[in-house]
Parts: sequence; structure tokens; C-alpha cells
Amino acid sequence: MKKVQQSFEYLQCDDLQFLAPEDAALLVHAQQSVIHAYAPYSKFRVAAIVKLDNGETVTGTNQENASYPVGICAERTALSAASSLYPGVGIEAIAVSYQNEQGESTVPISPCGICRQTLAEYEQRQHKPIRIILGGQTGPVWLINSVLDILPFSFSADSMK
Ligand code: THU
Repeated sequence: MKKVQQSFEYLQCDDLQFLAPEDAALLVHAQQSVIHAYAPYSKFRVAAIVKLDNGETVTGTNQENASYPVGICAERTALSAASSLYPGVGIEAIAVSYQNEQGESTVPISPCGICRQTLAEYEQRQHKPIRIILGGQTGPVWLINSVLDILPFSFSADSMK
């Protein structure tokens, strides 16, 4: 028996002004898009912007429902819309931002488990990683190279071979 350790590297930027301009623009787009969330129950507004290889961007926001489990996260809204509007076009990056009920948002949030699994499917489908850019309305920004970094031991189509 042996102990196995797994770790990953990500970048933390103290402020979005230190990001590459295209990443900063994507995150600002996410910050501005939280107003389009439909979150009357949690009052937690999330926006995700998918940047495609053809340069297009697609916005998703969380869409809640009186039957709570029916609600869908911003990330999956954006990924489903991008894949439907631009089938076969690769995904380069996704930026996520949010605002809580008090309008506060100073630390990044990271995608929930279902959204990580969804991102993993899109990575697998396109045979390349999707850069993940996470930030609040203000404060530090995290740059993650691939969802597999934050979804260790992931289950995929390969697992069924
Ligand atoms: N939510 C997202 O849209 N994305 C995340 O990364 C975390 C959570 C939504 C789901 C629900 O509408 C609300 O935030 C509270 O969980």
C-alpha cells in the first residue's frame, strides 16, 4: 500500500486588471450579466459566459423554479446554449461571477459538482481543456486550466470502455 497525493496548480490574480485583456473582458461580461439571472428563491444571482473558438460569446444565468430541483445553474445554461447555437464549435473558456442577496461578491465561487461533471463532458467531447475564470464583482480572480483539476477521479465515457 502507498499514499498517493494529487495536487493542482491554478493562478490567483489579486484583481482583474492583472488578467489578460480577453480574460478580463469575459469576467466583466459575467459580472454585468448577473442581473439577468432568474433567482427569486435563493436570491443568489450567477452568470457564466462561454467563449467559443470562433470568437463568439454565449451567456447563461441561473434559472430557478418553484419546484427547486428543476432550477439550472448558470454554467449549464451557458454550455447548453453554446452547444445548441454553435454546434461543433470548440469552447475556449468560461467565466463565472455572481452576486448574493446583499449584493456582496468579493471572493470567487466555483462550479457545483453537476456543473463540473458537465464541463468534463464538454472537454472530453472536444478533446481539449476549457479555461475556467472565476471571480466576484470585486476581489481576487482564480484561473483554472481544466475542470479535471477540480474534479479528480472523474467519471467519463472512457470509464465505460
Ligand atoms: N448556482 C449557479 O448557477 N452556479 C454555481 O456555480 C453555484 C450555484 C446557482 C444555483 C441556484 O440557482 C443558486 O445558485 C443557489 O445555489
